[in-house]
Amino acid sequence: MTRQQLIQLLKDMPLQEKVNQMLQVAGNFYMDDTVITGPMKENGFTEENISQAGSVLGALGASKIKEIQRNYMEKHPHKIPLLFMLDIINGFRTIFPIPLGQGATFEPELSEKLAAAAAKEAAVSGLHVTFAPMVDLVRDARWGRVMESTGEDTYLNCLFSEAMVRGFQGDDLKAPYKIAACVKHFAGYGAPTAGRDYNTVELSEHTLREFYLPSYKAGIDAGAALVMTSFNTINGVPATGNKWLMRHILREEMGFDGVLISDWAAIEEIIYHGYCEDRKEAAVRAAEAGVDIDMMTGIYSEHLTTLIEEGILDETLIDEAVLRILELKNKLGLFENPYKDADETKEKEIILCEEHKALAREAARKSLVLLKNEGVLPLKKGQHLAFIGPYTDNRSMSGSWSFIGRPEDTLTLREAALEFLDSTEAAFHPGCSLLGNDIHLEGFTEQTGEPVSPVQQQKMLTEAIEAAKKADLVIMPLGEHYVQSGEATSNANIQIPEIQQTLFNKIYQVNQNIAVILFSGRPLDIRALSHKAKAILQVWMPGTEGAHAIMDVITGTFSPSGKLPMSFPYSVGQVPVHYNEYATGRPYTGADKDRFRSKYLDIPNAPLYPFGYGLSYTTFSISPIELDKSAMTKTETIQASITIKNEGSLPGTEVIQLYIHDRAATVVRPVKELKHFRKIHLQPGESQKVTFHITDQDLRFLTEHSRLESEPGTFDLYIGTDSTTTNQTRFTLLP
Ligand code: IFM
Repeated sequence: MTRQQLIQLLKDMPLQEKVNQMLQVAGNFYMDDTVITGPMKENGFTEENISQAGSVLGALGASKIKEIQRNYMEKHPHKIPLLFMLDIINGFRTIFPIPLGQGATFEPELSEKLAAAAAKEAAVSGLHVTFAPMVDLVRDARWGRVMESTGEDTYLNCLFSEAMVRGFQGDDLKAPYKIAACVKHFAGYGAPTAGRDYNTVELSEHTLREFYLPSYKAGIDAGAALVMTSFNTINGVPATGNKWLMRHILREEMGFDGVLISDWAAIEEIIYHGYCEDRKEAAVRAAEAGVDIDMMTGIYSEHLTTLIEEGILDETLIDEAVLRILELKNKLGLFENPYKDADETKEKEIILCEEHKALAREAARKSLVLLKNEGVLPLKKGQHLAFIGPYTDNRSMSGSWSFIGRPEDTLTLREAALEFLDSTEAAFHPGCSLLGNDIHLEGFTEQTGEPVSPVQQQKMLTEAIEAAKKADLVIMPLGEHYVQSGEATSNANIQIPEIQQTLFNKIYQVNQNIAVILFSGRPLDIRALSHKAKAILQVWMPGTEGAHAIMDVITGTFSPSGKLPMSFPYSVGQVPVHYNEYATGRPYTGADKDRFRSKYLDIPNAPLYPFGYGLSYTTFSISPIELDKSAMTKTETIQASITIKNEGSLPGTEVIQLYIHDRAATVVRPVKELKHFRKIHLQPGESQKVTFHITDQDLRFLTEHSRLESEPGTFDLYIGTDSTTTNQTRFTLLP
């Protein structure tokens, strides 16, 4: 349809029909077996609203979606097709590593391919929109949704945000296998006070603009068709009713002209925030803020028509919103073909195809981060191994947003290990259950299963101890249950479950040669493990091919290359902890004995494992930095080079990271900020010169005038292999 035709269509629609376009309902109104991602409670839907709602969340399967669409179109007065949406976060049926794991690859190009593969599987299943990427900046590992983010760094998040949007959408939403992306949650959802989900967000405008907003903007500039509001208040005003945030920043400043959808029930929740008296006022606030689609409250359906008839709202507000929704349907080509790519035959061919599984294995391998290794990995031939830990036989390693992925698509570690090892080379014992009976995860009883009896636990432990005694090396696959991270899973204690800590300690008493394989959706406090284990491999929630990827890495078939996208705290008492903090007026170096310094009395300031950190099976040397000149003007470029050499005896990949620190500015600057990185693969003995080009753009920040610009002065430049690098030089930006 042309824009003119869409406008004409809009003119032909009665008010109530327009308002219906602005309602999104859950798929359970249409089919039994749906994905439910929010609280199902009383809402104001009428039969008519539901049968004419403009979009559906959580309906599944090409055949069913086609049937729903067909019935709907037959009845719809203007034959406007329904939009089908779902959260496709780290894969559809073929599950890739969780986004935090994807961040660890430092390879946004790979995430673009993963998003494209997920889009293909989703599209043939009939879906048109994914609620992804989640690009919220995260600094607090207590917040369970850090698993859906690519971490604590603004620059890295921007690259992943763009890449994922490109992967889902391509250049043309009408093209086969493309779905619309929805950048979320606008804005600041990743900074809830005390790490508690849905909690208040207090960010200065400077911090919001400088560190939090860029990743949304990057996704929008990459063409994201939708944006989702966030649940939280931001500086006292709920995001979902926040005119300044949505109209001024999102629409005017960022130039977003796509569809703004509320998060699930978020329009109603602005009442509970204490921002509106009732549902009618909530409708006014959200509509005035420019929220186009109401996800699952019915507030728009109940009140918008009356509000217009009463002259409280202007109908142009509704027209603008509905036009944006119609435009999205049009961009997807739904007016010409309401079924788009939904195809039962292609579902069978494409979903979980070998190509996607290969991508899943590649991504999972690259996402693994080797945190510690005292020579026990890769495995050596002729060793007797004992795999001991609850992830030995657990196939649920895809993370809590992988509703379509199935555990049976994934091998357990035992099964994968037996593809690499002879059964005489290794023993396998879970040692304990994943969760002890002390952990009660509300709402997750189906996923966590029946409690294991004390007798059974004791039997598992005894068998594991006996196996450990006989082993040369104990491999301990431990970690969080997959439902312990994700939405509504904030934790004040970010350690592995106590039952697993006990198992570790018991095994350590009989065999100290331990390599831990750590599953989690968030950085954990692993001080105790890290102190005792000989090796720790952080594997996140690695997805469908996770077990293969872990075996690839521990056997040395693939040398680990992942880097932490988020700091692992020394203790939960440090959070929020992130590498790009500001200096204090009383910095603590540890060298002086001055009492009045910015420090803790009981723990260090530094995280246990910092941003950008991750080991390889080989070692690399990095030369001092060479600059082609020591000063530049704003229109010039400085070339900064180092030579990296693989000093070990195995091939390996390193991520060379460049950080900048503006030494004095009108608004203080972080001690280091990632500005460039490059992934380099080298054979033993091989070296390579790596050159970065530093331009004025790398030096810009929000100055005292709230303008994005650089200020002349001196800059520290660091190039190294993690954010603690001391390989440093200086240059000057001339006036
Ligand atoms: O997309 C999600 C959002 O991230 C959290 N609430 C539910 C939405 C729809 O599933």
